[in-house]
Amino acid sequence: MTDKNDRILRTKFVERLCHWTLVACFMFTALSGLSWFFPSLSWLNSVLGTPQMARILHPFLGIAVFLALCFMFIRFAHHNTFRKTDLAWFRNIGNVLMMRKGPRLYIGKYNAGQKVLFWLIMAAICVLLVSGLMMWRAYFAEYFPIWALRLAILAHSIAGIGLILLILGHIYMGLWVRGSISGMATGYVSRKWAHHHHDRWYDEIKAAEEAPKA
Ligand code: HEM
Repeated sequence: MTDKNDRILRTKFVERLCHWTLVACFMFTALSGLSWFFPSLSWLNSVLGTPQMARILHPFLGIAVFLALCFMFIRFAHHNTFRKTDLAWFRNIGNVLMMRKGPRLYIGKYNAGQKVLFWLIMAAICVLLVSGLMMWRAYFAEYFPIWALRLAILAHSIAGIGLILLILGHIYMGLWVRGSISGMATGYVSRKWAHHHHDRWYDEIKAAEEAPKA
């Protein structure tokens, strides 16, 4: 779908709304979580008003992050399945990162790096959800033996730090590839951007536009 400025719709409104809601919920969940993990960051626990409020809201916000990611999973999983051509992307990672012209890579809606990140985010949120529910003192923690709670705390910490690092990488790549953040903000990208970064996806869009005319 294109608008009058000849741009291509990359991300629909409902998907963008979900993504930016996810960003807000993730930020509060991650900052309050970090405040308990590193004593030097304990001042962050006032990010949700008071430390007590942070304790209460952190699990609910975490569930909101999980639900938003379920929606993203439904909308985007099929664009993130791996194909043979993804191997070429990994082989040409140097050209991709340095924005050098190399062989054609046949990149679909998301590139191989984005796909890896997508599945790692999904795996991390599943670990965070299960371990987080087990540790939730108000409702579930009493049903588990102490060894299981210790394992849950360990898994929650590793997955939490892992997800924060993945998201920092995700933000960095968003800033590196000029035009992708505005794509997620407005929904639209230029034809040049689409052709340059996601050539196979661009061909598919063009073919779909030309199909009714043929
Ligand atoms: C300030 C923070 C963030 C920025 C600037 C940002 C930026 C972006 C951008 C630009 C895209 C679209 C990429 C493209 O069109 O090629 C995107 C997609 C996406 N983002 Fe974010 N993001 C942020 C935080 C998050 C967080 C916290 C999560 C999850 C916990 C997340 C999960 C996703 C997912 C799942 C996609 C779809 C990618 C795919 O399907 O492979 N983002 N983000």
